[in-house]
Amino acid sequence: MPRTLIKDGTVVTATDTRRADVLVIDEVVVAVGHELGEGDSVIDASGRLVIPGGIDVHTHMERRSEHSDNFASGTAAAAWGGTTTIVDMATQDFGESLRQGLDRWMAFADGNAHIDYGFHMIIRDVNDDVLAEMDNLVDAGVSSFKLFMADSGGRYMVDDGGIFKAMSRASDNGALIMMHAENGGVIDVLIQEAVARGQFAPRFHATTRPDSMEAEAVTRAIALADLAGIAVYIVHLSSAPALEVIREARDRGVGAYAETCPHYLFLSEEDLARPGFDGAKYVCSPPLRPIPHQAHLWSGLRGDDLQVISTDHCPFHFGNEKSKGKDSFAAIPNGLPGVEDRLSLIWDGGVATGEISANRFVELVSTAPARLFGLHPRKGTIAPGSDADIVVFNPDATRVLSAANQHMNIDYSLYEGRTVRGVPEVVMQRGKVLVQNGKLLARPGDGRFLERRRSGL
Ligand code: URP
Ligand code: ZN
Ligand code: ZN
Repeated sequence: MPRTLIKDGTVVTATDTRRADVLVIDEVVVAVGHELGEGDSVIDASGRLVIPGGIDVHTHMERRSEHSDNFASGTAAAAWGGTTTIVDMATQDFGESLRQGLDRWMAFADGNAHIDYGFHMIIRDVNDDVLAEMDNLVDAGVSSFKLFMADSGGRYMVDDGGIFKAMSRASDNGALIMMHAENGGVIDVLIQEAVARGQFAPRFHATTRPDSMEAEAVTRAIALADLAGIAVYIVHLSSAPALEVIREARDRGVGAYAETCPHYLFLSEEDLARPGFDGAKYVCSPPLRPIPHQAHLWSGLRGDDLQVISTDHCPFHFGNEKSKGKDSFAAIPNGLPGVEDRLSLIWDGGVATGEISANRFVELVSTAPARLFGLHPRKGTIAPGSDADIVVFNPDATRVLSAANQHMNIDYSLYEGRTVRGVPEVVMQRGKVLVQNGKLLARPGDGRFLERRRSGL
């Protein structure tokens, strides 16, 4: 069995930082320490950090036919960026079973994924059969379900009764419910009113989805979950008032968890107001917020009121898909690219600026997602017995984020021209090197489906 020695690096986990070598035999970490013997191959990590591979628990590969990334391109981009596992949003269509939707996503990924992957299931249509099916999916390793309290560029919204039924089922089968928390009813009215006033520009996407309606929905989601006897995980939390609701619930001892995304930490409402139609590049839901929200989100990340940073990678080409909204913001597809840039952005804007420690960085981008979504300790750490998903990370090297050099299949960069510090130089999954010396060595099909356990909340 092949032995790989990662030598002379600084191993950073969520809890420890220490100079050590890492011995990998075949697909797993066997030892972390010194004098671990010879390796068939040796990776020199001197002057580098050795961190667990990134885990991005919120991506949308192949969400729609016109969606730019598929499993092949999106997971290659993830590997370039130091992410070795994604949990993607398989989606139920109306009239079909959850299993049919899941099988479609399994087929998308099978033989195409460069990195390991699991699935959440988006439930669009709650009925008795679907509720019963949730149990089967949990048993099959799909142990989390996303529901929407608003539409997000399509018909997704489920009413409170449907949400409560799904939550009650989850309290029996142990699934984790993930919530898109915005008040869809009010937002629809605000959109109609804005359009009637002739307010068509991309910036009206933000004014019609106010932060108060995010906070209201988070409050309601937590109340419904509490009544059903479960914890709830709020996806893509964007604003200070919504965070305040989470904080207050957690202080009361209620099971409320949330993620935020790099775009809410580094971009703002001002990007939606860029000249001409350029703001369309920044349309996602919940929308980008005014700059002062960012400091609140960093404080939530430091204090563990926000537990995860995921990307909500959901890219649409500017040249065609986003342009469908030229005449009205209401027709701009919702979603942003991000899977490739997460580690560098968070290192640069989080660790290098002193917002968070290196250990907290590892926790937010890898360990906590693994724990919350039933993958730990196989994933999310570097310890004997864990999968050898390892990134040799250069904290001082820089790279320029640009459409010209990214690997995501998308015709723009949200951060065009921005220089970030922190570059994944070697990316390994289960002992196999995926990226090294600026080359992608991973192949489609290298990634495997991960059956996840119930959440380790
Ligand atoms: O705008 C967004 N976030 N698009 C992706 C779908 C979702 O709501 O997560
Ligand atoms: Zn959502
Ligand atoms: Zn999403």
